[in-house]
Parts: sequence; C-alpha cells; structure tokens
Amino acid sequence: MNLAVFASGTGTNFEAIVKATQNQQLKANVVLCVCDHPEALVIEKANALKIPVFSFKASDYPNKASYEQLILNACQLHQVSFIALAGYMRIIGPTLLQQYPHRIVNIHPSLLPKYKGKDALKQALAAGDLTLGATVHYVNDELDGGKIILQQSFRRSPNDCLETIEHKLHQIEHQLYIKALQQCLKEVI
Ligand code: GRF
Repeated sequence: MNLAVFASGTGTNFEAIVKATQNQQLKANVVLCVCDHPEALVIEKANALKIPVFSFKASDYPNKASYEQLILNACQLHQVSFIALAGYMRIIGPTLLQQYPHRIVNIHPSLLPKYKGKDALKQALAAGDLTLGATVHYVNDELDGGKIILQQSFRRSPNDCLETIEHKLHQIEHQLYIKALQQCLKEVI
C-alpha cells in the first residue's frame, strides 16, 4: 500500500507515519510528501528520510484544480493508493476527491464535531475546555465533516501553558494517527 502524506508545516505527524512504516507497525510505504510551502520544515524531514517531495505554491496557479492536477500526476507517478493529510492547510477539491474516494484521511486537533476549521485548539482553549483531543476522519467535501475513524481525548490542567498542551496533543496525535491508519488500510486491502 503506497501512501502520500500531505503537510504544510513542521511535519511531526508525517515523521511519525514514516517511522511507523519503517518499523512495520504500519504495513505501508510512504512514497510521497506533498507540501504547499516550499520552505516548510517537513521538506527537510522528507529529504532526510529519503521520501520524494512534490512542493508547490498555490499562488503560482490560477485555481485549485490546476495545482491539484499536478498533485494528482505526482500521486499517480508514485502509484499512491491512499492519502493522509497531516497538517495540510488547504481544502481538498474535487480533482483529488474524485480520484481517491474514501481514501483520504485527515487528523484534526479537536474532538470533532467541535471546533472545525482553523485554530481548533485555540478555539477549544478560548471556550475554557479542560478536555481536549484529536480526531482522525475521512475527508469529504465538507470541511472537517467526514466520517470519524478514531478520536482520543486528554485532560489538561488549568495551569498548563500552551506549549505543554501542544506537546501533549502531538504525542496523542502521533499514536492515534497510526492506529487509525492501521484500521482504514485494512479496509482498503
Ligand atoms: C497537527 O496538530 C494536526 O492536528 C493539524 O496540524 C498539526 C500538524 O502538526 N491538522 P505537524 O506538522 O504534524 O507537527
């Protein structure tokens, strides 16, 4: 099973997925990293792990369909059969959704359906939530609205600073994403 991981930033989830494939926790190969920020740290991580990268700047293209067509070409070239979004900050359009129906998943830093969209953790903290969490879900045409695969919550202490909370969230995400991928890849095979 060939996976592509799409990311826009640091890429800690990307790295966790690649490591899980290397230690056989996940029976798949990450064959492509797609990134919409040519300066992002995830690209350095991909290079260090020898994973091919397709990077682009959306502003260089007239519309989503035109850059998604190039992403699709790269996915087809690398025989990608499943896509994991890991901090990819763009909405997936019909070009990719139609080619990968029920084969694109995302990790979102909230207990969906709470706090869809951007800055989910900040939204939860602003609401005063003490129970936080992450969700892995299928991607469809509704933002953060596809079928939920797995969720995990944790309690924060009222004294925790943002950095501590983000650290806990990331640790949870890295394990949750692998579990969720194990589950959905079984369904694909
Ligand atoms: C994660 O918190 C994920 O839930 C969100 O974006 C963040 C990406 O972090 N969608 P990283 O780049 O994997 O470190």
